[in-house]
Amino acid sequence: MGGPAPEALKGEDWAGEMGERWLASLDRFEGMIAPIGAALLARADYQPGERVLDLGCGGGATTLAIAEGVGPQGTALGLDIAPMLIGRARQRAADAGSAARFVCADAATAQLAEQPFDRLFSRFGSMFFAEPVPAFVNLRTMLKSGARIDLAVWAHPRDNAWMMEVMGVVRAHVEVPPAVPRAPGPFAFEDLGYLEEILAASGFAGMDVVAYQGEQAVGGPGATPEEATNFVLASMAAGRILAEQGGTVLAAARADLTALFARHHRAGEGVMLGCKAWLVTARA
Ligand SMILES: C[S@@+](CC[C@H](N)C(=O)[O-])C[C@H]1O[C@@H](n2cnc3c(N)ncnc32)[C@H](O)[C@@H]1O
Repeated sequence: MGGPAPEALKGEDWAGEMGERWLASLDRFEGMIAPIGAALLARADYQPGERVLDLGCGGGATTLAIAEGVGPQGTALGLDIAPMLIGRARQRAADAGSAARFVCADAATAQLAEQPFDRLFSRFGSMFFAEPVPAFVNLRTMLKSGARIDLAVWAHPRDNAWMMEVMGVVRAHVEVPPAVPRAPGPFAFEDLGYLEEILAASGFAGMDVVAYQGEQAVGGPGATPEEATNFVLASMAAGRILAEQGGTVLAAARADLTALFARHHRAGEGVMLGCKAWLVTARA
């Protein structure tokens, strides 16, 4: 028996601290990734009557959009491990008069009364499983045979300036150990060969991928350089690393981040930095 898993391999604490951070900046996070969600929804092209599972639905923005696509005869069910995000998603659905429904459970093991589904969707909610193959095997049991899955996952950080540039500032002030490839987290599926292995081992077939490449607004559309800096410090892992340093390091990094974001700020748009994601489909 080995010792405890290294921190990087345990996955992120979405039911706790990560979920609280995502909730506290929900509009900013969702605003950043809204264009990628729109591209994934357009590719998925949901039809009236379909029954769709939204994996790792967070605050539920995409689940609400799916509910519109599938209409009153269909089902849009958001599944997430974070109770505070499911609470917000339910509130939003009630406020909007949406038929979207939400369940709080770990997708790696959950079984749902509403299954089997015709389709599975996930905008950046599929990369956090500590053991991806058993989790995807479980997801497959929730789907009809032949059901299509649509996943958005981040491509390599080197193609995501919003992450690389921020980490460049952090590394100028703090020694950060190199990322562990394939570790659960936003970039777990940067290598599509690894994702294809996981899908094949879990019984999914016919993986097909298009790249999404564009720019995204750090801290949400319209954020000023100062607002983007506050967002990074409060919400991203980079901010946690800097907060641990405190004092002069934090102050110097704050100034560097604001200067970086000022160089990428465009009036009316916000702090625009490059991003790349993979839009992946496969069949159960
Ligand atoms: C990056 S956020 C994306 C949220 C949402 N899909 C969106 O695009 O707004 C990742 C989400 O995956 C959820 N998540 C992580 N691990 C999970 C698991 N094992 N089961 C269910 N949800 C999980 C998190 O709680 C979080 O809401």
